[in-house]
Amino acid sequence: MAIVYDEANKYFRLLTKNSEYQIKIDEVGLAIHTYYGKPTYGTEMSYQIIPIDRGFSGNLYELKLNRGRSIDVLPQEFTGCGIGDFRVSSLNVISANGSHSCDLRYKTHVITDGKEPIPGLPYVRPYEDNVSTLVITLEDKLIGLEVELYYSVFEDKDIITRHTRLINKADSVLDVTKASSGMLDLQFGDWDEVHFVGKHTMERQFTRNHLSQDIRVISSKRGMSSHHQNPFVIICDHDAEENYGECYGMMLMYSGNHKFEIEQDQAGATRIVAGINDDNFSWKLLQGESFDTPELIMTYTDGGFETLSHNYHNIIRENVCDRKYMDIKRPVLINNWEATYFDFNADKIIDIAKTASDLGVEMMVLDDGWFGKRDDDNSGLGDWFVNEKKLIGGLKRISDETDKLGMKFGLWFEPEMINEDSELFRKHPDWALRDPDRNPTMSRNQMVIDMSNKAVEDYLFDCISKILASAHISYVKWDFNRSVCNVYSNNLPADRQGETAHRFMLGTYSLLDRLLKAYPDLMIEGCSGGGGRFDAGMLFYCPQIWCSDDTDAIERLDIQEGTSFGYPVSTVGSHVSAVPNHQTGRTTPLNTRGIVAMSGTFGYELDITKLSEDEKSEIKEQIKTFNSYYWLIQKGDYYRLTKAGQNEIYKAWEFAARDKSEALLNIVVKRSQANAKIKNIRLKGLDEASVYRLQGTDQRMTGAALMHGGYALNLSMGDYPAVQLHFIKEV
Ligand code: DGJ
Repeated sequence: MAIVYDEANKYFRLLTKNSEYQIKIDEVGLAIHTYYGKPTYGTEMSYQIIPIDRGFSGNLYELKLNRGRSIDVLPQEFTGCGIGDFRVSSLNVISANGSHSCDLRYKTHVITDGKEPIPGLPYVRPYEDNVSTLVITLEDKLIGLEVELYYSVFEDKDIITRHTRLINKADSVLDVTKASSGMLDLQFGDWDEVHFVGKHTMERQFTRNHLSQDIRVISSKRGMSSHHQNPFVIICDHDAEENYGECYGMMLMYSGNHKFEIEQDQAGATRIVAGINDDNFSWKLLQGESFDTPELIMTYTDGGFETLSHNYHNIIRENVCDRKYMDIKRPVLINNWEATYFDFNADKIIDIAKTASDLGVEMMVLDDGWFGKRDDDNSGLGDWFVNEKKLIGGLKRISDETDKLGMKFGLWFEPEMINEDSELFRKHPDWALRDPDRNPTMSRNQMVIDMSNKAVEDYLFDCISKILASAHISYVKWDFNRSVCNVYSNNLPADRQGETAHRFMLGTYSLLDRLLKAYPDLMIEGCSGGGGRFDAGMLFYCPQIWCSDDTDAIERLDIQEGTSFGYPVSTVGSHVSAVPNHQTGRTTPLNTRGIVAMSGTFGYELDITKLSEDEKSEIKEQIKTFNSYYWLIQKGDYYRLTKAGQNEIYKAWEFAARDKSEALLNIVVKRSQANAKIKNIRLKGLDEASVYRLQGTDQRMTGAALMHGGYALNLSMGDYPAVQLHFIKEV
């Protein structure tokens, strides 16, 4: 069993293959966090808590004479509030008499095999893996609040998931104003924090800061996980590298407002609290009701960023995304967005599909502009019925054509939005999120629809279902093109408006869930102006997410590299687009664009009908190449071979088969130089003693030579040259 309770010493051990987590229930019933690190082989770690009387750090009443035991410095699992732990708290609650205090003590616990779903929220699926769950119940008897702390241990994957359930056992309402998913107190260590920042068309850039005695906040209050701060944080040794150093990962499985608070306290200890952003959040918990927080996915390694990333890649591919996608070959697609924008008709789409199909493309995706009155981005959102003037013969005609070509057909939606200029808004102006008497702030001239309202969810379910049933549609691109403000639901009373943002996410998750249940073979690709909602919450429903609206191959190197810290390439939507690139004006070789896009779900997004015969033949070869590497890329281990955020000359990365039978090395030069240094790249994940042949040559080297010596090459002429080298183990 991966979870052990020692009754005599009142402590829990949560054991994975390479890590151990310890919780001790102390003499007054506080849940103390005593350890998270490499396995201890059986030592109870609370001996590391050495009481020191710290000035201005008060003591719980029972401990008033024991001044070294202040909760202001004790490492804990989850805090109450208002009772003298002055660091960032896990919870804020206001009870009926207006008190802001909550004192949580151990009540009971239960350990079970497996793991239950979290009502209404995405969760890490246990499947038939080796998973067990510990639930510790804390209570504040005075205010009648119970807090259940859930820990599920994925033993073989070195992952521990956490979430929190609040239950009102009082006879009056409790107002919850902060409910975090989990907290990690690290008593010792000199840490850096790594997180992934950005903006539209430049998401998830690797960022690293040394911690000091202050509070850092990584968060979003945009109603979405955001392009700006991804809900994923790494706490690592100050000198941690790809293959060295202790790293703790905390990833929130949530697509709405999130917040990670990282505080280094007076004693040099570090606390990380993660969960729903408490900014403008409140939740009325009525008698007998419960509230579940989103799930937090945690991992620990002493093997540096590489192992940490591998742990996340494995859990996301196999337990966050629907596992069936591990074995379903996803289609190479062509999307018409950058080819036509809004300027298309059925003939044009069929033309693109035919040309693409000849070259081996397997799915035609019709993007924005097929519905309502939608000839630009000012109108039509909400009117989810076909614009028959633009698409004569409707979607059925296109899908009949793609069927004939042996292609799949996919369609764009942006369900959570509404235009002022739409039939839907004219009929239901109260369905937009907005203050009743204030003009809303517009963005892309659209508003956000009130997903917290069940009638809205039902309307969307009906119209999307009708469209899906009207033609042979096997894929949906689910877009979300603005940040959310004017967060006011006309469907909720005044004293519940603080619930709107979270109820919005629950509505979106519910709609996704209903559609996938009604159309089990449908594949949904997430999108939010590119990667504005690239998070584990969306990945529960969508096995892939459009990674960025920046399709420039060179910009994508940094975006995809940053993304790779937490998310596997199987989730990264990536396309070859036209040159000069529409976002940067840069011209890169088709070969380079292909190599970069292959480190993802792969597709094309350009007017393929306008390409030269040479370019078309190159694309045909690219698709063959991608298909031949498909399983290696999707299931192999991904290695960053150049330093994140640092190597400005070139980037190299690799996919190595788990059984070490083959590896694919990718190198892209970002800056060509005269008289350049030879680039020597050390591979990873090979079998030292085996001989590998470089495909297409007679060159043979041992795994050891490639890993410890490296593969040297001179690649420096021209603009952005790139190569892909395939090494195959000889039998
Ligand atoms: C933003 C997406 O990221 C693009 O790919 C495209 O679908 C547009 N929206 C359409 O409006």
